[in-house]
Amino acid sequence: MIRGIILAGGSGQRLDPLTRITNKHLLPVYDRPMIYFAVEQMVLAGIDRIMIVTGGNHAGEFLRLLGNGRAFGLRHLDYAYQERAGGIAEALGLAEHFADGGPVAVLLADNIFERSVAPIVDRFRARPVGARIVLAEVEHPEAYGVPEFEGDRLVRIVEKPSRPASRYAVTGLYLYDARVFDLARGLVPSARGELEITDVNNHYLALGQLSHEVAEGYWADCGESLDALFRAGQLVATRGANRTVEPPAR
Ligand code: DAU
Repeated sequence: MIRGIILAGGSGQRLDPLTRITNKHLLPVYDRPMIYFAVEQMVLAGIDRIMIVTGGNHAGEFLRLLGNGRAFGLRHLDYAYQERAGGIAEALGLAEHFADGGPVAVLLADNIFERSVAPIVDRFRARPVGARIVLAEVEHPEAYGVPEFEGDRLVRIVEKPSRPASRYAVTGLYLYDARVFDLARGLVPSARGELEITDVNNHYLALGQLSHEVAEGYWADCGESLDALFRAGQLVATRGANRTVEPPAR
């Protein structure tokens, strides 16, 4: 059984001043708090054991907002507290006991996908070995983890490269087998002082166990900038989010 881990810690500095008195993932994106999209994605993918990792001064607000997840049809939500914004891979490490030796679906809580990711999770469920990442074509890849290809073969991922080697970003949906926690433990902090998820993915790549696919529909990283947050709201308003079906023809 795959367990879901939603990462909602970090400092949210790029959205200052909106994040001075609240956590980035509680900000509205059109008609919902940002974190709602991630929880809904997990539920649509058939995952009902979900842990939310958050941190900072506003962590208690997640409990007030989400409680036990009843609004999503859940009976229970797990929470973990990250003491400082030490990176995505550090936040993930806090969920090791929750994963209980099984595979995990990890979703960054500032990511919104137009389509339900259920088919992607199902493809990993069919063979939950190694790691699977999801790519999206973007205008400014330099803001993200960027895959480099030789022919069709993904050969490395570079975090926020000054010269991106492709037009793709690695999105914040990651599917891992239980080895991810051992790999995360072996990481050293990057130049920005964080344990990077890109390093985890490059480890799987070196083991020949990283698969990838391209997301259908739009993908938005709402935490990238104030403009990105605004655009994400517009996309949600006009095209919806987490869709399992085509929208009705206009
Ligand atoms: O959104 C996709 C991108 O996310 C990827 O392309 C990059 O490879 C990946 O490193 C990440 O880049 P960002 O610079 O956007 O990561 P950010 O620091 O904004 O963190 C993204 C989410 O991860 C954030 O919404 C909450 C969670 N997080 C982050 C940090 C640094 C934590 O839970 N704890 C943390 O310490």
